[in-house]
Amino acid sequence: MRIIGMGLVLLLSACSAAVQDIYSVPPEPTYDSDVRYFLADHCVLCHGSPPNRGAPATFRLDVYDVPNSTEPGAFAKKDSILADITSGRMPPGGGIGPNAKQMITLWVSHGAPR
Ligand code: HEC
Repeated sequence: MRIIGMGLVLLLSACSAAVQDIYSVPPEPTYDSDVRYFLADHCVLCHGSPPNRGAPATFRLDVYDVPNSTEPGAFAKKDSILADITSGRMPPGGGIGPNAKQMITLWVSHGAPR
């Protein structure tokens, strides 16, 4: 019984660690120090160059900006990025935690600085 109890405690602490948000929320997030890691973890699998898994080729999220390109980067798509992660539309299946949403919200509200 004691061993089962300890196993349960270990299992529960492993679960709470898994739902913790790994992204910190600095007061002024930037693309280079914060946002690009989030996009790499959750979006670039599909929204790179070339795009994968049916993602549109009209933009890419693996770069901040691509001047004079028909495939602009994350800066040009900042409002859609924010809307899609807060609504849960992207990534498909959801799963974005509150810290990441807050970090992207702050980044966009500060003009999406590099
Ligand atoms: C498994 C692949 C996949 C992943 C991962 C993914 N997307 Fe997408 N995304 C798609 C596909 C497919 C479409 C086109 C169909 C659609 O719009 O639903 C799309 C469309 C979009 C669009 C264009 C539609 C719009 O609202 O302007 C944006 C922006 C977008 N994704 C942002 C993101 C962001 C931000 C992430 C990461 C948080 C992400 N996506 C992760 C597959 C993916």
